[in-house]
Amino acid sequence: MTDLTVRIGRLTLKNPVLTASGTFGYGPEYADYVDLNRLGGLITKTITLEPRGGNPMPRIAEMPAGMLNSIGLANVGVERYLAEKLPLLEKYETAVIANLAGSTVEEYARVVMKVQKHPRVDGIEVNVSCPNVRKGGLAFGTDPDVLCELVRSVRSETDKTVIVKLSPNVTDIRPVAMAAASGGADALSLINTVMGMGIDIRTRKPLISRITAGLSGPAIKPIAMAKVYEAAQAVDLPLIGIGGIMNGEDAVEFLMAGASAVQVGTLNFVDPAGCLKVLEGIETFCREQGIAKVSDLVGAMDHG
Ligand code: FUM
Repeated sequence: MTDLTVRIGRLTLKNPVLTASGTFGYGPEYADYVDLNRLGGLITKTITLEPRGGNPMPRIAEMPAGMLNSIGLANVGVERYLAEKLPLLEKYETAVIANLAGSTVEEYARVVMKVQKHPRVDGIEVNVSCPNVRKGGLAFGTDPDVLCELVRSVRSETDKTVIVKLSPNVTDIRPVAMAAASGGADALSLINTVMGMGIDIRTRKPLISRITAGLSGPAIKPIAMAKVYEAAQAVDLPLIGIGGIMNGEDAVEFLMAGASAVQVGTLNFVDPAGCLKVLEGIETFCREQGIAKVSDLVGAMDHG
């Protein structure tokens, strides 16, 4: 039997498969389809200090190999998250990681301060990469100095694992990854969506109300793999690969590029039980290849 455990910062996960924020609700919405106890971890939808209604419709469009979204961080706000959403996760034995965002450094810090006290929160994922909001989001994830200050501030609020979720919408991911590391991040997750857009040529209207949006799904997998590989060369932190993972073999590719774990996102919309199929695919690969520890696959690409 392969040892599937992986270490992400201060956390040991039972396996390397997590669900990506914004694609799996607050978790229990998927419990009819997925035994949540089998997941390495569950990352809840981004939460902010105040509730947000999100962007006007339409805010999702299917693409040939993926999906455009511009939800605008719609969420119930931190108080309802703590009072109503987290208690529903108490009975599950999987790591719960709270993804959060803010419009200012102070707002991020306040949300972290509130959330990290909750015993059901095992770690924090800091969203500095949402391309779909006017204030905050991407603005924090593209400037290394700003990012470093933000991560420092988050770090000072918690001893729990801090994961920083990076954007691919930068010229070079390495300075941003290094800035998150020097701010005190325990791990990085990458990538968030790639900026994109589409037009209905008959109505001449944009497919998404806010015009530009985030592209996810298999279309972005090669981009995500390259960013993971580059980040792995730049920082000595565990990485979580995200981007178009549709099966176990895709996940193994990310591990070989340098990721210690993966997040499954767009697949959850195609097949609500898809994340467990990714896990089973990794297990099958390891069994067939005689891999004793899944962590032996991390960065195992043969450079020739
Ligand atoms: O529009 C959204 O809520 C997307 C969030 C994200 O990509 O982080």
